[in-house]
Amino acid sequence: MKALLCEAYGPIETLQVREVPSPVPGPRQLLIQVKAAGVNFPDALMVQGRYQVKPALPFAPGAEIAGVVKAVGAEAKGFEVGDRVMALVSTGGFAQECVADAARTTPLPGGMDFDTGAALVLTYATSLHALKDVGAVRPGETLVVLGAAGGVGISAIEVGKAMGARVIAAASTDEKLALCREVGADETINYSTENLKDRINELTGGKGADLVYDPVGGSYTEQALRAIAWRGRLLVIGFAAGDIPKIPLNLALLKERQILGVYWGDSTKHDPAGHLANLRQLEAWFVEGKIKPIVSERFPLERARDAIALIANRGVKGKVVVVND
Ligand SMILES: NC(=O)c1ccc[n+]([C@@H]2O[C@H](COP(=O)([O-])OP(=O)(O)OC[C@H]3O[C@@H](n4cnc5c(N)ncnc54)[C@H](OP(=O)(O)O)[C@@H]3O)[C@@H](O)[C@H]2O)c1
Repeated sequence: MKALLCEAYGPIETLQVREVPSPVPGPRQLLIQVKAAGVNFPDALMVQGRYQVKPALPFAPGAEIAGVVKAVGAEAKGFEVGDRVMALVSTGGFAQECVADAARTTPLPGGMDFDTGAALVLTYATSLHALKDVGAVRPGETLVVLGAAGGVGISAIEVGKAMGARVIAAASTDEKLALCREVGADETINYSTENLKDRINELTGGKGADLVYDPVGGSYTEQALRAIAWRGRLLVIGFAAGDIPKIPLNLALLKERQILGVYWGDSTKHDPAGHLANLRQLEAWFVEGKIKPIVSERFPLERARDAIALIANRGVKGKVVVVND
């Protein structure tokens, strides 16, 4: 089978599609014929050796997949060959076949296609965990989403709306902001042309935001933090801009603001039951039409590295997926 291989940590252009042996599932694992694999920002960081997880070389990147079960490990209960499933795999997804832990695999909900299944879990489960379990967003609160047209950004808009928040989407181009409005953002801020802090204050009548969802970092974090209301919360999701902000802590003290870290991947290990409940909630919202991943582009496996380069270069709207015919 073919896989996109990272053979040495380095530039994305060095990734190569190679012929490799099919992986063999362990007793509690499944072998999945990959139909689609979602591209996420950590894939780009991981192949460059800039992510907190550094897999042994060589490895195929790709953390979330949807496909068809080809083989079932002896102790992997509840699955049969031919089942349509989606799975979180950490690595190995940009390939024709991939092994997945049965515990991290779920059936594709009825009516969901493979591309959507590969684009749903990582981003939407991150946003639901962030907004519900960490940020405890309440109906009527004002939520500001930075990098709002990206993968986790779009999901935060939709999850925020499903939870009853008023959502202000902030992004770098008008085209990206148009997409944010399409998926339900109430207001938008173009932080390339407008002052982020001033606009948040303006749109909240001077009160400030109740929550900021921040997957971007860089200079945006402090600007947004300065526009958070009394006892508001900053959700630290990621640093797509590259720089990890260093924040003057008086900004937390002055308005009793809370700075809250979010690490969805590890949270699923600390609270597997909570994670499963969140997945059920996302499936229900999908069926009700409250959430729907936006797959803006599809790349064949041969061009998977271009998909990873696109996300690294700020070029993605919603999600891109790598597809196998
Ligand atoms: N904490 C967690 O549990 C968790 C889970 C999933 C993902 N994450 C993190 O969340 C972040 C976003 O992931 P994603 O998959 O949503 O990525 P994405 O689709 O590329 O979105 C990131 C957004 O960041 C903005 N950005 C600003 N400066 C950028 C730069 N120099 N390069 C690239 N993007 C830049 C872009 O929006 P504008 O152009 O509009 O500024 C872009 O849309 C990543 O850091 C990822 O590691 C964290």
